Amino acid sequence: MSKTVSEAQLKSYYEVAVDLVKKCGPLMLEGYQKGQTDFKVKADFYDLVTVYDKQIEDKLTKGLLSAFPESLIIGEEESAATKRLPELTDAPTWIIDPIDGTTNFIRRIPHCCISVGLAINKELVVGVVYNPPADELFTAWKGHGAFLNGQPINVSKVSKINQAVIAYEISLIHAPSVRDKNIKRIYKLASNATGTRCFGSAALTLCYVATGQVDVYHIEDLKPWDLAGGAVILREAGGVVCHTNGGEFDIMKPNCVCTSTKELSKEVISLIDEANQIMEYTFK
Ligand code: IPD
Ligand code: CA
Ligand code: CA
Repeated sequence: MSKTVSEAQLKSYYEVAVDLVKKCGPLMLEGYQKGQTDFKVKADFYDLVTVYDKQIEDKLTKGLLSAFPESLIIGEEESAATKRLPELTDAPTWIIDPIDGTTNFIRRIPHCCISVGLAINKELVVGVVYNPPADELFTAWKGHGAFLNGQPINVSKVSKINQAVIAYEISLIHAPSVRDKNIKRIYKLASNATGTRCFGSAALTLCYVATGQVDVYHIEDLKPWDLAGGAVILREAGGVVCHTNGGEFDIMKPNCVCTSTKELSKEVISLIDEANQIMEYTFK
């Protein structure tokens, strides 16, 4: 049964999460500055993990559960260890990606972050995304706006794809089951946009839409922890986060179109439809 949550309670979830994520910053920075050579391969050759992923998730999990014993955790490394994705319930649930952009972290490319989102009654209400190498802390809680290092942030006003800078994860073509669809969509979207960028961190890319640096991000086949924190930040910055079919975004199956404006999401969705209808393509 869903319970209502007071503003004071929500504020306390937000403040504790921000504080804890900040406290994990030095640990992440230590690993980033050292450069990681002893990473391990998880599910496939391109799915990497370091000791820092596990250490940061443990630190966050302990801290959040000790402050809020009634809450639940969905964390990337715990889910990988148990090979189980917990079901999302109405209970307050922290959705944690200890390092989003692990490949960037290993390579010392400064697009990597800690991401924490909180869902209550299955609704995302708190988001914290922290990139220690760039000293960028993005935060938001429902109804109170989004912030970068304490300063309010807002999406751009861009409403047409031919004036938009878009982001797309090229590495999604790794998996044969989704390769074709991504090639067709990259072709359609990138050939219509002003520019296309690939950052290698889904959580940070949502934040870049939130700041107006980028106007569009379309992504499918990722996991709840890749998007939970950033989705709150983007919505609180005034952006749109919806399902690829234009319907409601589902954090447990987070296929989405994320844009600065409604007009832009409509245009992106219709280009994705056109891309899906391409039967054959050739590289010329
Ligand atoms: C990855 C990042 C990346 C996306 C990958 C994710 P990780 O997360 O979000 O942007 O393209 O598919 O797995 O593994 O660095 O936490
Ligand atoms: Ca991730
Ligand atoms: Ca990760």
